[in-house]
Amino acid sequence: MFNKYKNKMRPKTWVEISSSALKSNLEVFKRLVGPKVGLMAVIKANAYGHGAVEVARMAERIGIAWFGVDAVQDGLALRENGIQGSVLVMGYTPPENLRTAIESDLSFVAYGQEQAQELAKLSRGGFLKTKRAKVHLKIETGTMRQGLFGKELVVFAKKLSAIKGVEIQGAYTHFANIEDTTEHTFAASQMRRFDEECARLAAVGINVKVRHSACSAAAILFPQTHHNLVRLGISMYGLWPSKETKAVAQRSRRNNLNLKPVLAWKTTVAQVKTAAKGTGIGYGLAGHATRVTKIAILPVGYWDGYDRKLSNVAHVLIRGARCEVLGRICMNMCMVDVTDVKGAKPGDVAVLLGADRRENISAEELAGQIGTINYEVVTRINPLLPRIVVR
Ligand SMILES: Cc1ncc(COP(=O)(O)O)c(C=O)c1O
Repeated sequence: MFNKYKNKMRPKTWVEISSSALKSNLEVFKRLVGPKVGLMAVIKANAYGHGAVEVARMAERIGIAWFGVDAVQDGLALRENGIQGSVLVMGYTPPENLRTAIESDLSFVAYGQEQAQELAKLSRGGFLKTKRAKVHLKIETGTMRQGLFGKELVVFAKKLSAIKGVEIQGAYTHFANIEDTTEHTFAASQMRRFDEECARLAAVGINVKVRHSACSAAAILFPQTHHNLVRLGISMYGLWPSKETKAVAQRSRRNNLNLKPVLAWKTTVAQVKTAAKGTGIGYGLAGHATRVTKIAILPVGYWDGYDRKLSNVAHVLIRGARCEVLGRICMNMCMVDVTDVKGAKPGDVAVLLGADRRENISAEELAGQIGTINYEVVTRINPLLPRIVVR
């Protein structure tokens, strides 16, 4: 968009981020983990759709010192926007990008020989004389994603620690089966393996400063996973990791966490029209007016992240009332039934996700309708939509 107009244009669809809800959720977790454990705000995937820079700024103001991102590019965006805290790049970093990461003081996950070779090259070339490469070893404990274990881990860690200018700042793992179940034997085995692997490193003189393993569900359910740092994603945004996590939390009386959803997703009624009984609505005439129907046209569609599987299924809130989606979600538009909404007119706000008066549409409701999880609903909201911070 032309920059000249960008900030003057009224958005037709937007995302509101509540700074007070985010603050309240982070305070809940500060109390839960206690003063000796740090919190990492996991802001990958555009802060789970909430807006990475906006969330990082708010979290930093509240005293969060660690940020978890996926790519070096995400870390650079934080630095360009003045974020000073520690940033850990948790996803794959092509070796060519390590120099940029180090230059911008980004920590990064390490588990690959190509990384060790590149770091050794940077060290030989003198680049690491003034800058330190801060790495976090990824320990494979059973998720079968990134990481190393056993002898391979020790050999790799020794290799890295022998490179001048490389600091093994941290070591971490990630749980495979903690939010999907109420049965945590596998998670417990991962906890044991993490401790064993850390002990194996210590035995060869590699004493890692920052150990971390907990995501939201682990942080809530298992205090022994807190170590020095907890990586908070979904729950920081006020959403429970799963109903299973909530059930176990309830059993163990850890469900008194008052999590407040941070995000609301809104659009504007563009037109209201009346269809005669029996009229087909939208592409494929897949919607159907079963009575004389007042239809509101909304300027939001699957391009915005409003999933096409919500066709004929979802509801939106207009003037505090639930309105059914009629017909197929289009690329940039959809239609809803406002027959029973008194006074509905162009310009009205329609809530796709969030509360309006006594009604609420949750990420879990939308996730249930399209067969996915709340994580995916929020992370897939188009990052180009404006994120507006509200109190
Ligand atoms: C490595 C890692 N740590 C932490 C998190 C945060 O998890 P959650 O959103 O369940 O708190 C994620 C999210 O996928 C992750 O990949």
